[in-house]
Amino acid sequence: MEAQLEQLKDEALAKIEAASDVKALNEVRVAYLGKKGPITDLLKGMGKLPAEERPKMGALVNVIREAVTEVLEVRMAKLEEQAINEQLATESIDVTLPGRPARTGNHHPLTRVVEDIEDFFISMGYEIAEGPEVEKDYYNFEALNLPKDHPARDMQDSFYISKDILLRTQTSPVQARTMEAKNGAPIKIICPGKVYRRDSDDATHSHQFTQIEGLVVGENIRMSDLKGTLDLFAKKMFGTEREIRLRPSFFPFTEPSVEMDISCFKCGGSGCNICKKTGWIEILGAGMVHPNVLRMSGYDPTVVSGFAFGMGPERVAMLKYGVEDIRHFYTNDVRFVSQFHRTEV
Ligand code: PHE
Repeated sequence: MEAQLEQLKDEALAKIEAASDVKALNEVRVAYLGKKGPITDLLKGMGKLPAEERPKMGALVNVIREAVTEVLEVRMAKLEEQAINEQLATESIDVTLPGRPARTGNHHPLTRVVEDIEDFFISMGYEIAEGPEVEKDYYNFEALNLPKDHPARDMQDSFYISKDILLRTQTSPVQARTMEAKNGAPIKIICPGKVYRRDSDDATHSHQFTQIEGLVVGENIRMSDLKGTLDLFAKKMFGTEREIRLRPSFFPFTEPSVEMDISCFKCGGSGCNICKKTGWIEILGAGMVHPNVLRMSGYDPTVVSGFAFGMGPERVAMLKYGVEDIRHFYTNDVRFVSQFHRTEV
């Protein structure tokens, strides 16, 4: 029986050695060490042996079983490692393959123009102020020297929410709000934001558009300060060769009031389709803050003075980038929007 056991052991070890993968080795384990295997059979057959031989044989079977188990486990660990390495080798990622490029967006052209304008005025020491789009009639009109039945209200057809509340038609109400809040202190602000007017949308009109308001209030603020500021602004936005021209105009909240034109950046003044053969392009409205407006918001017009201006970034963007229809700004066609990559102005 001893010889039989030794032979069994050699056979098992040879098969363990020969097993080339985890699956084959598991089969060997079941075949030799499993419940139906020869070693178990031998243990079961012990009862037939003479009583004095049983302990010796039992010990021998156990030694052989342990030896086979140990060799099998070592081999199993090796085969498992081999399997993992093979898997790693076949599943590895080729990091040298080119990746999928991430699509980067860009600023909306209006955002870009607004930011360019903001950058310029911030560099001149202005602060940025904001106000509500749903505004009181008082700030949108009355505090700007446009009492209830003033005919100049007709210039800005409005969306009323109630008798006293409307969607603001201009960013000028922020002038009155800021003056109220600053309570007599000097002011130097610009205010970008959305405004609304009852207009039929076409290539140059939109019921909603943006404006940038400017307001400077303090002692000794003169018309020449306004002119110098606008001149610098025009050169910054449209090129250093630009000249400006101020034409008399009317706004209820400024006196005197002006429209500012710039010399045409396309033809330089000789006349073309952009400037409609005049050599000049209208850019914004401005003026010296009306004494009534100063007074209504708590400033003494005998002590301080101020200037204000208001412009439409859409118009600036259309001129600067040759956009022929204002509606392009709002319909968000990526083919349009993606054409505007930021460069230094
Ligand atoms: N709020 C005026 C408009 O919308 C523009 C403006 C602002 C004019 C400030 C003068 C001073 O037409």
